[in-house]
Amino acid sequence: MKRILSGIKPSSEILHLGHYFGALKQWVGLQKTHTCLFPVVDLHALTIPQDPQKLRESTTNVAKTYLAVGLDPKKSVIFKQSDVVAHLELFWILNTITKVSELLLMTQYKDRVQKNGPQSALAGLLNYPVLMAADILLYDTNFVPVGDDQVQHIELAREIARRFNQKFGQTFVIPQPMVEKIGARIMSLDDPAKKMSKSDSNPNSCIALTDKPAVIREKIKRAVTDSGKEVKYDPKKKPGISNLLTILSLVLNVSIKSLEKKYKGAGYGRFKSDVADTLVRFLSDFQNKYNKISDARVKKVLADGARKARKTAEKKIEEVYKKVGLK
Ligand code: AMP
Ligand code: TRP
Repeated sequence: MKRILSGIKPSSEILHLGHYFGALKQWVGLQKTHTCLFPVVDLHALTIPQDPQKLRESTTNVAKTYLAVGLDPKKSVIFKQSDVVAHLELFWILNTITKVSELLLMTQYKDRVQKNGPQSALAGLLNYPVLMAADILLYDTNFVPVGDDQVQHIELAREIARRFNQKFGQTFVIPQPMVEKIGARIMSLDDPAKKMSKSDSNPNSCIALTDKPAVIREKIKRAVTDSGKEVKYDPKKKPGISNLLTILSLVLNVSIKSLEKKYKGAGYGRFKSDVADTLVRFLSDFQNKYNKISDARVKKVLADGARKARKTAEKKIEEVYKKVGLK
């Protein structure tokens, strides 16, 4: 079976609809056909200042979310990145063949620097994609299912893998990004030109998976729509309505075309209220499952996962150390 790896940073309490549709939903399906590893990438979260206690809680909550959406520890290896030290060992080795000029091209880095000023840019933020490459290459990953903002990082991981193989002989599998046609970029509710993001300053821009029904209804009601009345998919002219159509089609597993037909002549009001009702039902179901998972269960799943991940990772790092002459 081909191998899958992907992860989410525990960098705030909330995971949102973008995480679900861009990443988690496809992960759940892939478990049937692939060997899967899903780390909670806590080392990556440190690239933004974190309160230590909050980081521990967010890590538990991200793992709980993995379980509640249907990732199954019997089928997939669910673990905490920092529990497997080989990620950091490979990170260093890969840093020695990665050019600073390549890292300076990364959009996520450039955006952050532009937002916060070059003075505040940390070395960890610049090197973040190298750690991500280590996560991926350590396990001979074939496919990396992510939202479209991560594709550039995976392209870099491919380049680093090729370079290492060329220099030291065949060692790493060249990974490929796996991006859904619909859902790879869920947009912000208050500004559909931006992606839905947990770091957005406006809380109404984003629906958290743990939002309560009244909050969900209010956020959908306030969601920016466009002039006109027609419920039609046209991301250029109607980005707000198109985003809501995308979300509704993903929750219901029906085509956008069939939704356009259903809401022909209905107006935005009825459409939005249906989107809200559907999300309330979907997220209540998720939250019921989420609330039943104890911290003790999460702890056990992560400990078992780390044991399995270490087995694979340690073999690979041993091979890498030999190839570069450390052993
Ligand atoms: P992060 O919160 O940056 O660790 O993101 C984890 C995963 O969720 C990555 O695969 C992202 O591409 C995906 N993701 C985050 N935000 C969105 C969004 N608004 N739409 C689609 N995918 C997203
Ligand atoms: N950088 C990714 C993000 O911000 C998270 C991540 C870290 C990741 N390591 C990974 C995703 C390995 C896929 C595979 O979303």
